[in-house]
Amino acid sequence: MERTFVMVKPDGVQRGLVGEIIARLERKGLKLVALKMVRVSEELARRHYAAHEGKPFFPGLIRFITSAPVVAMVWEGREAVAVVRNLLGPTDGAKAAPGTIRGDLANDIGFNLVHGSDSVESARREIDLWFRQDELLDWENHR
Ligand code: CMP
Repeated sequence: MERTFVMVKPDGVQRGLVGEIIARLERKGLKLVALKMVRVSEELARRHYAAHEGKPFFPGLIRFITSAPVVAMVWEGREAVAVVRNLLGPTDGAKAAPGTIRGDLANDIGFNLVHGSDSVESARREIDLWFRQDELLDWENHR
C-alpha cells in the first residue's frame, strides 16, 4: 500500500488546525501509520527542503519551519501521494479551490499550513528522514 509524508507546518499548529487537517485525511479513508510533534532543527529543515536550496524563498522557508513545532505524519492508502496532494490543493492558497484544505484555510504561498510529498520517491525519502522504522505502525483496519 502506498505511503506519503504529511507535515502540519508551524502556521497550522499555531492556528489550531491540526485536528481539522487530520480529520479531513481520516474522512477520506486514509490510514494514519505514524505521528509525532517535532521542533525542527535547522539541519532537518535543510535536508527536508534540499531540493529548494538556492531559491530566493529558501532562507525564509527554513526560518519558518524551524520557528515553532510541526506535526509530522505518515498516511497510507490507495494512491496516497496523489490523494493527499489533491486534498491539500495547490501550493499557493490563493489559487487553491474551495473544498481543498488550502483553498478553505490558507491564503499564502509560504504560510500554506501543510506539506505533502510530491511523488512516491519523495515520500520514501521524507519518511526515512523523519521517522525511524519502529515508529511506523503496522495495524489492521477491520472496518
Ligand atoms: P511545500 O509543499 O512544503 O514545499 C516547498 C515549500 O516552499 C512550499 O510548500 C511553500 O511553502 C514554499 N514555497 C514555494 N514557493 C514559494 C515562494 N515563491 N515563496 C515562499 N515560499 C514558497
